[in-house]
Amino acid sequence: MTIIQPTKQNIQKVSRELLCGEVVSIPTETVYGLAADSTNADAIKKIYRIKNRPEINPLIAHFFSLEQIEQQVEINTTVEKLAAKFWPGPLTIVLKKKTNCQIDNLATAGLATVAVRIPVHPVTLKLLELVEIPLVAPSANPSGRLSCVTAEQVQKLLGNKINWVLDGGQCQIGLESTVIDLSEGQPSLLRYGAISVYQLENICGKILLPEKNQSIKSPGMLLKHYAPKCPIRLSFDNPRVNEALIAFGCSIPDLPFARIVNLSEKGDLEEAASRLFSVLHDLEESGVDSIAVMPIPEEGIGKAINDRLSRAAANFLPDSL
Ligand code: TXA
Ligand code: MG
Repeated sequence: MTIIQPTKQNIQKVSRELLCGEVVSIPTETVYGLAADSTNADAIKKIYRIKNRPEINPLIAHFFSLEQIEQQVEINTTVEKLAAKFWPGPLTIVLKKKTNCQIDNLATAGLATVAVRIPVHPVTLKLLELVEIPLVAPSANPSGRLSCVTAEQVQKLLGNKINWVLDGGQCQIGLESTVIDLSEGQPSLLRYGAISVYQLENICGKILLPEKNQSIKSPGMLLKHYAPKCPIRLSFDNPRVNEALIAFGCSIPDLPFARIVNLSEKGDLEEAASRLFSVLHDLEESGVDSIAVMPIPEEGIGKAINDRLSRAAANFLPDSL
């Protein structure tokens, strides 16, 4: 696999690869994606195979503009307001397909809906403008593993499975987009992300939260996900042998951890979010036997950080829990 710089020629080259049915990793402001032509079933099949992702778990379609989105799905004034406020940016909206929707059924797992977003990363926006078709792109990682926020991390996890990663530098936000379902009556949140529930409710009114929504509508909301190779626990009492601590803020406990990595010494949640996956990638390579985590405030993007951490920790709980 080759990491390529986002020159004009390379972006053109990637657009040709995608239009020929190849799968290429692309940068976004949230995490790196594994992109393919959303209208090409063979290309989409490759994504599921490369990620070892169950075909019942649908993909997000990425667009260049709201006009392009309108050709595929039903939009309304709430969508227009959200679009005006948050697009391009880290928000994904699940909407009903139009009857002539060109997004392949395989990408949407046969559902009557599509998850759509306009990313803000300039390299990928340029690419979307060039290809002129929506690109499906799940996060560029094997199913269940850590998401990637650098081209090198994609190389580490998928290096033997794809030919190209378009290098867009370190992802600015560092956590996957907020996902909201507007395809039915009451808006419901499917995944926490950088755009907070408070920001969304200002526009859409009351939103049903995942904790309150018993039926899992989005397989990304499954309990076990985003996991490093070693066990992770959401407490930091009684350090274990060869355990690392993920710290937050300026008052760090004086305890004998093998390593301490601070997500943000100044207690800045945005900084912590942008560093989380890189810290987990580094720690899983560092030879520590387990990871302990200090509490992160449940405010704004802190909610999304805790969501990812609790799923990573759930990976090591027995299945019955
Ligand atoms: O930030 C992001 O959203 C990144 C970048 C690459 O854009 N993509 C990403 O994709 O995180 P993925 O596939 O890892 O997560 C997509 C989530 C999954 O939880 C999936 O189940 C849900 O969106 N999803 C996709 N289409 C859906 C649909 N029609 N209805 C409900 N959930 C859907
Ligand atoms: Mg993912």
